Amino acid sequence: MNTPRRFWIRTHGCQMNVHDSEKVANLLLHDGWESARGMDDADLLILNTCSIRDKAEHRLYSELGKLREWKELARGRIVGVAGCVAQQQGDALLRRFPQLDFVYGTHNLRRVPEMAAAASRGVRDAQTGESRSQERFDLPSRHPSLEGDPAGRAFVTVMEGCDMFCSFCIVPSTRGREISRAGAEIVAESRDLVASGIRELTLLGQTVNAYGRHDRRRAHERAERAAGAAIALAPADPEHSFADLLGRLAEIPGLARLRYISPHPIFYDDALIRAHAELDPLCPHIHLPVQSGSSRILERMRRRHTADEYRRLVERLRASRPDLAITTDLIVGFPGETSADFAETLALVREVAFTDSFSFKYSPRPGTAAATLEDAVPDAVAQARLEELQDLQRSLTLDAHRARVGETTEILVEGSSRRGGAQLSGRDPFHRIVNFSSEAEFPPAPGSLIRVEIVDATPHSLIGVWNPAIAGDRAPRNVKMGALIADERSAVIGSERASALRGGSRG
Ligand code: 5AD
Ligand code: SF4
Repeated sequence: MNTPRRFWIRTHGCQMNVHDSEKVANLLLHDGWESARGMDDADLLILNTCSIRDKAEHRLYSELGKLREWKELARGRIVGVAGCVAQQQGDALLRRFPQLDFVYGTHNLRRVPEMAAAASRGVRDAQTGESRSQERFDLPSRHPSLEGDPAGRAFVTVMEGCDMFCSFCIVPSTRGREISRAGAEIVAESRDLVASGIRELTLLGQTVNAYGRHDRRRAHERAERAAGAAIALAPADPEHSFADLLGRLAEIPGLARLRYISPHPIFYDDALIRAHAELDPLCPHIHLPVQSGSSRILERMRRRHTADEYRRLVERLRASRPDLAITTDLIVGFPGETSADFAETLALVREVAFTDSFSFKYSPRPGTAAATLEDAVPDAVAQARLEELQDLQRSLTLDAHRARVGETTEILVEGSSRRGGAQLSGRDPFHRIVNFSSEAEFPPAPGSLIRVEIVDATPHSLIGVWNPAIAGDRAPRNVKMGALIADERSAVIGSERASALRGGSRG
């Protein structure tokens, strides 16, 4: 038989891209495809791209260059390109790379099986249209052979797109306009996932806590029209507030952990801040991008808040949940950033004492407002700032980790530690990596929630010891406690995460 039947997906970029790859794997499995074990035995290879910073885009071009040879090694091989670069370049990619069979943008995942079938007949195609309807959230339920994460974690999309247009950011043009998914569907999908053994859900959206805002605005407008123009704002539909959504999900029996990524500072209301005090499964960690500590630069970035407003938000969140860990994203070398602006960033980072941060050198993205700004910061200056910031963060992270030595924390077991040896690894509620050794005869299976004593700290992780005699461990819901560690499977069958590169779907 000539028809290609096995797929492999290579994913760059953010959690949103990883989740898109899961969705495409699921669609292909439903269409009769099987997952490959790697590129070598694949008939269809999909590269899911990221263009948040320019290096990722150049990487795609070099990867595509190398794939010419891969295609020639076996008859009928197909290559597809997805994600943000695909959304932007569309047909141009097909023209530039004759070895490429199809291209699909971020709103066209559902077309993949059809495009792959057409490609087998020699039809090349690019689908990059924007869909503004709820339809794009309509996807088949999880295929039985989509194994998912052995640790029992899953993503759930709650909104997509971004209407914020921060001046440096390409996301509004690659992911399109902001649209929220119906609450009932989010709850139904989450219930199914938890019923299938999932312990930890991460709600995904580019500005996840803006969830439902356009629906609320439209509801207000309708109410105003109905009552005549004089009416005050109608009460927000609770069905559509993010805090309410968290509340409904937190009630799902068996859900141990609830997270969300990435919020934008301006979309925290009282109810959402209170949710961090009140909802048991909601983890005490927020990844809250600030980008800069200088209000002058924040304004040029069009972030819509000042550095002091961010500080006040952090205070209110910590008043609500005193042990909250906050991590962030930072950009250095934004056009016009002076050494005084950068000093304000260092001061904010010290003051908030972020548990961790991801920092990036500004990279101009074509078509964004900042791309036309003059007064670029020389690369050597930006590089020196990046290193200074990262040194500071390393020492703050180490301080935060050291302060926890002696504590007992609950971790969700993921599997073998990257450090090798007999060490195992998992994450605690604060999203810190804990590498631990076990005093038990059998190591805990991935997906177990176990209580580990922290005995040491490094800038990258906490070091723990698991003693099963300590009470309070919770076995994985599908696997018996004491089962040997499952082999290291990738997060989604038939796919790999191509790099540790993050980015893309952040507030
Ligand atoms: N240059 C550098 N960093 C960027 N980010 C987004 N766009 C750019 C850019 N043009 C960073 C932001 C964002 C993270 C995902 O990537 O810090 O939060
Ligand atoms: Fe939207 Fe976040 Fe990009 Fe700003 S940085 S435009 S909020 S995705």
